[in-house]
Amino acid sequence: MISAEELIRFVRKNLKNKKIVVAIQREPYIHIKTPSGIELQKTAGGAHILLDGILRKIGGLMVAIGSGSADSLTCDEKGRILVPPGEESYVLKRIFLKKKELDGWYYGFANQTLWPLCHAVFVKPIFNAIWWQDYISVNEKFSQAIMEELRDQEAFIWINDYHLALLPRILKNQNPNLIIGFFWHIPWPTYEIFRICPWKKQLLDGLLGSDFIGFHRGYHVDNFIEATRQELGVIVDTEPPLVEYQNHETKLANLPAGIDYQEIKTHLEKYKKIDKGLIKHDFGFDYQYLAIGVDRIDYTKGIIERLRIIDRFLEKYSDFQGKFVYLSIGAPSRMHISAYKNLNREIFDLVEKINWKYSTADWQPIYFINKTLPREKILAYFQLANVCLVTALDDGMNLVAKEYVICTKDDHGMLLLSKFTGAAKDLKSCLLINPYDIEGTADALYVALTMKPEEKIKRNQQMKKFLKENNIYHWGINFIQNIIQ
Ligand code: G6P
Repeated sequence: MISAEELIRFVRKNLKNKKIVVAIQREPYIHIKTPSGIELQKTAGGAHILLDGILRKIGGLMVAIGSGSADSLTCDEKGRILVPPGEESYVLKRIFLKKKELDGWYYGFANQTLWPLCHAVFVKPIFNAIWWQDYISVNEKFSQAIMEELRDQEAFIWINDYHLALLPRILKNQNPNLIIGFFWHIPWPTYEIFRICPWKKQLLDGLLGSDFIGFHRGYHVDNFIEATRQELGVIVDTEPPLVEYQNHETKLANLPAGIDYQEIKTHLEKYKKIDKGLIKHDFGFDYQYLAIGVDRIDYTKGIIERLRIIDRFLEKYSDFQGKFVYLSIGAPSRMHISAYKNLNREIFDLVEKINWKYSTADWQPIYFINKTLPREKILAYFQLANVCLVTALDDGMNLVAKEYVICTKDDHGMLLLSKFTGAAKDLKSCLLINPYDIEGTADALYVALTMKPEEKIKRNQQMKKFLKENNIYHWGINFIQNIIQ
């Protein structure tokens, strides 16, 4: 297993005196106003947590959007604050946007154009020229914020995700010596889908300002290459994959992200002695079999399909009625977008309908917790759950699946994982399902709940071994290595 210390040594040796800069939409720490004063919160899981983990070990600068109600009160006049409190290992520089910019860039172009364009879930992307202008100007703001801190310093820039596709080109135009790596965390669609975007050439041109672009899976790399070939007529080399455009080479690779195995293990130590009493205490119910689902409420996560699967499972395997409970933890997300508001309502309706269909005086099958819960708590619930349901319809990776596998007790937990997640190629020993196949997945749920302990131990240990070896630090080293080689 690669340790944090190895990553630090690797960075010091290879990046020497270069300043390390991460550009990302979501900040890992927010300050909020509460009746008892300003509080600091760690934001819920995702790529920013991975990058926070890395920067905490190697130091540097993270540029992100300030989103907490007290964020502007806690940083200096340039938006900077040392984080995390008590550790102060790197500088977080917050960019503050006007509401219109946030609407156009984040709620608009990033999440109603690119997000549905890149996920094969049959939600139509919206193409709006005003959002596109905001997308350009916020990418420019990121560049200004970075250049303001760098001046002439040599730097290694790590850009994260689809909110910042234009940033590599803007930065490279300002300083061709900057080393720029980009990680695209969501799927890259097939060319037949991508080609409908009116700004496809600009997006590709922006990304090709990078020296390296990482994707989670090989088919995302292939789709990206095809788009650049069709739209920009680039020269393509396949070993290793790279595209040459305007006399500049951009290397490409699939680098599936890992998670911080050790950090999770440390959290689990705190909850070593937990039992069903924790669920009774936190949610007020008893159970014989516990299934869990943890997601942002997002139409890509297949939450409606999952509820239908539970319904069919209880109908078909009626012995489980009265014994089985599905705990769904759904963090509200992107709630100013109608598709997300509607999905929230749809989930509440369906949960109510299924609960009404099966409930008895002292049992109901589904508990839907519509809020963000502390990470430590979720990891503790994972330990207790007999099954974790990850039913995403299309997903770049899905870190929840990986976290569950690490947390689960070997002899009693089993992951049901959608084949359409990037994680499915890494977690081959779980039960892989097609979330659109309600009948087949209800059967798989039954198989998971009745699987012999020896079988679960064998499967979980295989996956844990893989996750231990391919952890976050392994991913970090791979990413940097691909850029500097
Ligand atoms: C996905 C994206 C991330 C994003 C996360 C949470 O995992 O790849 O870039 O941060 O979703 O979405 P949000 O809009 O809440 O940041």
